[in-house]
Amino acid sequence: MKRRVRKAVFPVAGLGTRFLPATKASPKEMLPIVDKPLIQYAVEEAVEAGVETLIFIIGRTKNAIADHFDKAYELEAELAARNKSDLLAVVQGITPPNVHCVYIRQAEALGLGHAVLCAKPVTSDEPFAVMLADDLIDSPNGSALSQMSAHFHKYQCSVLGVERVPESETFKYGIVNPLPFAERLSNVSGIVEKPKAADAPSNLAVVGRYILTPRIFGLLEHTPRGAGNEIQLTDAIAALLQEEQVLAYEFYGNRYDCGSKLGYLMATIEYGLKHAELGDDFRDYLFTLKERLGQD
Ligand code: G1P
Repeated sequence: MKRRVRKAVFPVAGLGTRFLPATKASPKEMLPIVDKPLIQYAVEEAVEAGVETLIFIIGRTKNAIADHFDKAYELEAELAARNKSDLLAVVQGITPPNVHCVYIRQAEALGLGHAVLCAKPVTSDEPFAVMLADDLIDSPNGSALSQMSAHFHKYQCSVLGVERVPESETFKYGIVNPLPFAERLSNVSGIVEKPKAADAPSNLAVVGRYILTPRIFGLLEHTPRGAGNEIQLTDAIAALLQEEQVLAYEFYGNRYDCGSKLGYLMATIEYGLKHAELGDDFRDYLFTLKERLGQD
């Protein structure tokens, strides 16, 4: 029987230092793009792809994430009493009824690989997705994870979501060595964490979306600390592809690096322009702003 991806791991225990002081007491994944926190966009993408169990790997200051996906009795009662049925539906729709949330505390920040390993007791022997919420992906025709899930379903092997990046930026990402065999699809023959341009095997970067087979856990258990003295998921994937087929898939969609302030601002502007309620007013405002800036 063909396996499907039913579980997704959200590593959300990072310190979010690039957004201090905003992230001093609240997680970076709760930063909003217009009116929705980053983590909710990632969860919606997972749910669209058929995920039913959300596994959050949390650290200090992450209670806000659990609260966000939990029922909020007082708020709901208040909204109902004030006849705010639209807002009530928004709040009640955050976690669909068939979706379960699991929270696992990552006691030490030992890296992305370690965060993923923390999910082992819950994912057991199933394939699963890993989603980094600060990579926000806008794909009008089927979410990035849905596209990847379709390839997982067909090939039954790990699939990495990749995107071309400028050579000057390879040092920020896991970079794959691709052997292309179909449109947007490659077999991965190597992967390196954050190489300099001169050492990078290509400019295809892994951008916060992974579908992995459970074999990764056994490999993560033996992965020594790598780049940045952290246990790197990339290093375990390098070991995985010695044993199993691993695919890289160039998904359709725009990715915003909301882990950087510039990427975060870009996403805010583009999602603001597309927003049903305020998109038109915001567009008008941007035109007047452009004129004003042109006069300076
Ligand atoms: C992590 C991964 C890296 C990946 C990136 C995508 O790095 O280690 O391989 O390309 O996410 O955003 P980080 O951004 O946490 O430093």
